[in-house]
Amino acid sequence: MTSIAPPRMPEPAPPGTSPPASAPILRMRGVTRVHGGGVTQVVALRGLDLVVHPGELVAVMGPSGSGKSTLLTLAGGLDLATSGDVFVDGTALGGLSARALAALRRRSLGYVFQDLNLVPALTAAENVALPRELDGVATRTARREAVAALADVGVADLADRFPDQMSGGQQQRVAIARALVGPRRLVLADEPTGALDSATSGEVMRMLRARCDAGAAGLLVTHEARHAGWADRVVFLRDGTVVDSTGEPSTPESLLGSTSTHPHGSRSSDRPPFVPRRTNPGPSSPGPSSPGPSSPGRPSPGRPSPGATDPGRPDGDSGSATDGADR
Ligand SMILES: Nc1ncnc2c1ncn2[C@@H]1O[C@H](COP(=O)(O)OP(=O)(O)O)[C@@H](O)[C@H]1O
Ligand SMILES: [Mg+2]
Repeated sequence: MTSIAPPRMPEPAPPGTSPPASAPILRMRGVTRVHGGGVTQVVALRGLDLVVHPGELVAVMGPSGSGKSTLLTLAGGLDLATSGDVFVDGTALGGLSARALAALRRRSLGYVFQDLNLVPALTAAENVALPRELDGVATRTARREAVAALADVGVADLADRFPDQMSGGQQQRVAIARALVGPRRLVLADEPTGALDSATSGEVMRMLRARCDAGAAGLLVTHEARHAGWADRVVFLRDGTVVDSTGEPSTPESLLGSTSTHPHGSRSSDRPPFVPRRTNPGPSSPGPSSPGPSSPGRPSPGRPSPGATDPGRPDGDSGSATDGADR
């Protein structure tokens, strides 16, 4: 398994063009998404409130059909809310023209979907460079950034291969490089490890975690508790609403959509990290979950974990050959 380099920091925005670091990157307020009408009407999200700050990785869990993918597509501006507001870096997505929305998506948002959506006719490097070029970055610069992003995910040597010349896991890494290339502030991952073996899944989680530690905000849809263990908190959805969450930040907005609150409300860096439950809450019982004991809940990318001796390490990712060697 190839080792993963630390991610490049997103370039700091020029002074005055970006909200203060403490401002949320993603804010969803009273977001409802209704499909269709009449007897076939489906309410995919109902009155959802969610705030994600720089540095936070939030896992989204819940049964199939609970609205997880809808949440991500709305957060990413791929779909618009029926009512309510979605703000990315303080900009209300609902108020943007299609062109401005597309530009914001390319510049600020990174997606990792289970369907990789790589362009078959483009090489790995071209796939990764594409969003940068679309955003006006010169071809050579975009290529350089793309190769660096591929190196970050351990597949620099595949830069000139086409998707059908790569394994599923390699394609997934390329898709992740494409989502993380450039100064993306909000990274959205919808079951990004679905097609991956456990070791590679662990690396994907490590990359997402590292990008968030470098200042991005992340939303991760996952069914696996061991992956949720990399998150700062977990939001459980059912029928389009948040039915529970762990380790919530103290902002009032974040509490509006939750039926339970926890005293560990601080977003300060010394707060007790979320410790994953050892069993997946399962599709029908997203019931109350609380932050576990005060042991570290996840390895910190900046401080390599001792692997087997880390009591809070997410299960199943510890078999990676890169453990302890990737930082
Ligand atoms: N384009 C659509 N048209 C009609 N219903 C939809 C559409 N997209 C999603 N839904 C419905 O909205 C609900 C939430 O879907 P989704 O967000 O995909 O859930 P999840 O990702 O949690 O499985 C489901 O009942 C789904 O069938
Ligand atoms: Mg889904």
